[in-house]
Amino acid sequence: MAKRVLVSGGAGFIGSHVTVELMAAGYEVVVADNMSNCDLTCFEGVKKITGKDDIPFVKMDFCDADAVNRLFSQYKIDAVIHFAAYKAVGESVAEPVMYYKNNLESFLNVIEAAKTHGGCNVLFSSSATVYGEPDELPVTEKSPRQPATSPYGNTKQMCEDILRDSVKAYAKYGNEVNAGAECNGPIKGIALRYFNPIGAHPSALIGELPRGVPNNLVPFITQTAIGKRECLSIFGNDYPTPDGTCQRDYIDIVDLAKAHVYAVRRMLDGKMEEDYEIFNVGTGRPVSVLELVNAFEKVNGVKLNYKFAPRRAGDVTAIWADPTLANEKLGWKAERSVEETLAAAWAWEKHLAGKE
Ligand code: WQD
Repeated sequence: MAKRVLVSGGAGFIGSHVTVELMAAGYEVVVADNMSNCDLTCFEGVKKITGKDDIPFVKMDFCDADAVNRLFSQYKIDAVIHFAAYKAVGESVAEPVMYYKNNLESFLNVIEAAKTHGGCNVLFSSSATVYGEPDELPVTEKSPRQPATSPYGNTKQMCEDILRDSVKAYAKYGNEVNAGAECNGPIKGIALRYFNPIGAHPSALIGELPRGVPNNLVPFITQTAIGKRECLSIFGNDYPTPDGTCQRDYIDIVDLAKAHVYAVRRMLDGKMEEDYEIFNVGTGRPVSVLELVNAFEKVNGVKLNYKFAPRRAGDVTAIWADPTLANEKLGWKAERSVEETLAAAWAWEKHLAGKE
């Protein structure tokens, strides 16, 4: 029997790509989403890519504990990948209560259900934001976490800690810590720390669908190239980097999605060396904003209207991953070049334009 994976927030940008890769790897998938930050475009795209019209889909809110319990009663879930969360850094500064409530409550409900329904492993979508402005580059999983600079970032740190502590208590069901507790099976956990996910599926049937003005660089680039935005502002060209613009580790969305398959396999095949593990999901390759813009123009043969603007508050100067641990322990490696990824992002933007 194929193992079943629940993807919370599975209709969103990362969730939809992960669903495709899980299904390609032979897992059964249940997609659940409250559709608060997406429409059905990506889920329909997933159906087309996989050729499966009957992927179980549940419209529900993970802050609703009863709904989460019902879902776990309806399906025997072997692993859950938790994406259902708010993710806009600026909005989290303006609405901290909303962010803490949503991101913590939904995750606590997932862990509680995993524990009470027994033997379900939990994969949490964390972020390189937990490293803040690193003292040393590239960052390894052992690099210290820095105090979060936004409520959004703080929820990532807090959810990592919630998972670590829960696994510690429930991974060895029956030990003196949780003897007598309502726990029907051990849970194990993996946190994947994503660097900057960009791009789209090569089919151009799924991709990023930002609402309103995009906060992130690549959707802003593609929307400017297609004429939806007048001009890209490059935030800061006086950073202490080779060309003065910030450096990031841009990871292709399909590569990132595949990392989840390797992580789920490690959990479900009993290959974990610790009950709670953390992996960086990045390429190990720093790319500056200017380099990314130039690469976009070159690979897609388009001219981008851009200007230099003041630094954006809260941006770190440079961060990129040391992905050795994921390479060695998960057997996963980022494969696609920045150029391939930027071509896919552009194809997706054009696909969207064709639908309008
Ligand atoms: C990348 C670079 C900007 C927009 C954030 C979150 C992180 C994760 C991913 C996800 C920076 C520059 C951007 C623009 C620009 N969260 N930029 N002009 O800030 O590295 O990471 O998104 O849910 O947790 O913090 O990504 O794409 O916003 O910015 O010059 O219009 O592009 O200054 O150097 P960031 P980003």
